[in-house]
Amino acid sequence: MRVLGIESSCDETGIALYDSEKGLLAHSLYSQIALHAEYGGVVPELASRDHIRKTLPLIDEVLTSAQLNRDDIDAVAYTAGPGLVGALLVGAAIGRSIAWALDVPALAINHMEGHLLSPLLEEQPPEFPFVSLLVSGGHTLLIDVQGVGQYQLLGESIDDAVGEAFDKTAKMLGLDYPGGPILAALAETGIKDTYTFPRPMTNRPGLDFSFSGLKTFAMNTWRESTQTAQDKANVALAFQTAAVETLAIKCKRALKETGRKTLVVAGGVSANKALRTRLDSMHQVNVYYPRAEFCSDNGAMIAFAGAMRQSAMIKEDAATFSVRPRWPLDELTAP
Ligand code: KG4
Ligand code: ZN
Repeated sequence: MRVLGIESSCDETGIALYDSEKGLLAHSLYSQIALHAEYGGVVPELASRDHIRKTLPLIDEVLTSAQLNRDDIDAVAYTAGPGLVGALLVGAAIGRSIAWALDVPALAINHMEGHLLSPLLEEQPPEFPFVSLLVSGGHTLLIDVQGVGQYQLLGESIDDAVGEAFDKTAKMLGLDYPGGPILAALAETGIKDTYTFPRPMTNRPGLDFSFSGLKTFAMNTWRESTQTAQDKANVALAFQTAAVETLAIKCKRALKETGRKTLVVAGGVSANKALRTRLDSMHQVNVYYPRAEFCSDNGAMIAFAGAMRQSAMIKEDAATFSVRPRWPLDELTAP
């Protein structure tokens, strides 16, 4: 079965074609970073309009690169949440319309399930069961995964997501948008142990996270410093080290509590090199990640999640669909 995947939940239009037998056939991504940069963050209405402009041309591009036609599409998977409502509606409307016109089934995919399953696109995929750490701009989740759709929430952020904390700290330091990867690059020039930041919520039991205090700690440290370029890099490094260490402590705890030996990390922040180095250093744990380009939002993970759930694919009236700006992962069921 060849599944067309459409991702449009935030500021990236991602399109892909996944074949259940041959694997990933083609994929393409259009990032709206330049569009939102001057506003310092995603402007939802601009995001929706840009998805409208880009989705169909990207679908044609992906079909061309796979040397296929529209008639070769057997099913359509689209992101139905969580995300920005207008942006989600663009992908859902286009996805459902294409499915209806081609008379093929369509499937609403949970964006976070897309991230969670994305490391399974790699040549040496992890095997179920595993603990999943999902770290993106909107979510920080620890999940016990028994199989597709069998998700038990172990812990989550009670305030800012870790990616959001990276972005807000970067903004406060006057770095460009999107801040996360830029702050990570700056941290590489920081001097180790100049500052020590707290590891929030690691001294008490439980697997929840809190990152908003870390952002405030970074702000106070920066304001009290002499504010040289080196100070900025030192604050960036101290913030990143604390965030990474906090994630690692909770991952270790989650693995111990569940008895799992495999950790699977995904979402935008899983591209962070310091995080990868720290998690890879854990003893007796196999750690898996998506390839760099599939850490952040993309169509491949949505097409793949669709293929994993093909038994749940349904042909429905194109005129009746909805999206879910909020859609907790543990509401999903096995296909
Ligand atoms: O998964 P994603 O592309 O979109 C969401 O679903 O949110 O994640 C984007 C987040 C942003 O907060 C971005 O700053 C962060 O991932 N991010 C990083 C890095 N690359 C992306 N954070 C830290 N270090 C990185 N290298
Ligand atoms: Zn995402």
